[in-house]
Amino acid sequence: MRRPIVAGNWKMHGSRAENARLIEEIAAGFPERPAAACIVCPPFVYLQEVGRLLRDAELDSQIELGAQDCCAEAQGAYTGEVSAAMLRDVGCTYVIVGHSERRTLYGEDDQLVARKFAAAQSKGLVPILCVGEQLSEREAGLTNQVVGRQLDAVLELCGADAFAGAVIAYEPVWAIGTGRNATPEQAQEVHAFIRGRIGARNARIAAETRILYGGSVKAGNAAELFAMPDVDGGLIGGASLKAEEFLAILGAARS
Ligand code: 13P
Repeated sequence: MRRPIVAGNWKMHGSRAENARLIEEIAAGFPERPAAACIVCPPFVYLQEVGRLLRDAELDSQIELGAQDCCAEAQGAYTGEVSAAMLRDVGCTYVIVGHSERRTLYGEDDQLVARKFAAAQSKGLVPILCVGEQLSEREAGLTNQVVGRQLDAVLELCGADAFAGAVIAYEPVWAIGTGRNATPEQAQEVHAFIRGRIGARNARIAAETRILYGGSVKAGNAAELFAMPDVDGGLIGGASLKAEEFLAILGAARS
């Protein structure tokens, strides 16, 4: 039985004032017993304060804190980086690794992402591993090949057992921030492929791994996406910055 997750990736948005307003609005409409686990991932500099806002709103047992990235190294002379241990220290329980914006804009390759996944787990954080193909790759029929390669890098470095408790987010790059979501059938096809890839190594763990869909999820399409058998919730970008939309997406998840 996989409890779905609805996670908000705020990306490089927000300010102290905007974050406070957003958490206040989320708190005002937060359901008594959400069917899904809920996570917010603010920028590094706001993590601690958003953690405090969640505590003040008595939401800290309902909404967990995640970061958007972490360093693959444990500590040392890595100017500008933030370690997994630091993220734990400020109250994070999750961390996104391998987001397509990190991969494409900052040149993160599969091996680096796998090392970040390992670094996160070694400090007790749950990695949310993002995978997904570019439009040209989909059009060339390479979706499974690309997603398979991204997954294999982690399977090879960490083994299938590492996916126990971990989270995967399938985010087709062409669907991110474009308003053009994958159809539920397209998402299901890739999610089933991902589960099968892990299942080939460990069927029990594959059955437990939560696989989120990300890419233009909004209140209007969340329910049909989340209804697919291998879609265990969503990783939400733009719509996670609007309380009403985010809460409606959370409400669309069913256990
Ligand atoms: P959008 O929901 O804005 O398309 O972003 C998805 C995403 O990249 C979440 O990590």
